[in-house]
Amino acid sequence: MNDRELIGLALAARENAYCMYSGVAVGAALLAESGKIYLGANIENASFSPTVCAERVAFFEAVNKGERKFKKIAIAGGNWGKRPSTPFYPCGVCRQVMTEFCDEDFEIIVSSGESYEKYSLKELMPHGFSSELF
Ligand code: THU
Repeated sequence: MNDRELIGLALAARENAYCMYSGVAVGAALLAESGKIYLGANIENASFSPTVCAERVAFFEAVNKGERKFKKIAIAGGNWGKRPSTPFYPCGVCRQVMTEFCDEDFEIIVSSGESYEKYSLKELMPHGFSSELF
């Protein structure tokens, strides 16, 4: 599974975003070390705070299927109904969830229209809080 293929899956996952409050649709495609791929889209709520980001939907789907190790994630987001044209970076809470399950070399692919950016978890979440600290 190459990076562009994973971005294609994130774009497809984005179609399922439930984002009537913000109008921001996000999709994520997560590749586990098992080789399986887990998809997620953001799911919003009238009460706002129960909203869950696309990345966490993908992670929790995978963890709930028994996955514990991950290679990379592709993220694509932007205004609903438009193809993403700018990078959409994962929020801090999603970075914390990645820190729970991923090594610091986990790859985060941020789609930006025709191009994309790629970071390690260490770059986006330096000095992250984890169980290694206690
Ligand atoms: N969102 C994500 O899905 N992932 C992120 O990393 C940041 C934000 C969603 C949550 C909400 O539904 C919408 O984007 C606007 O914040």
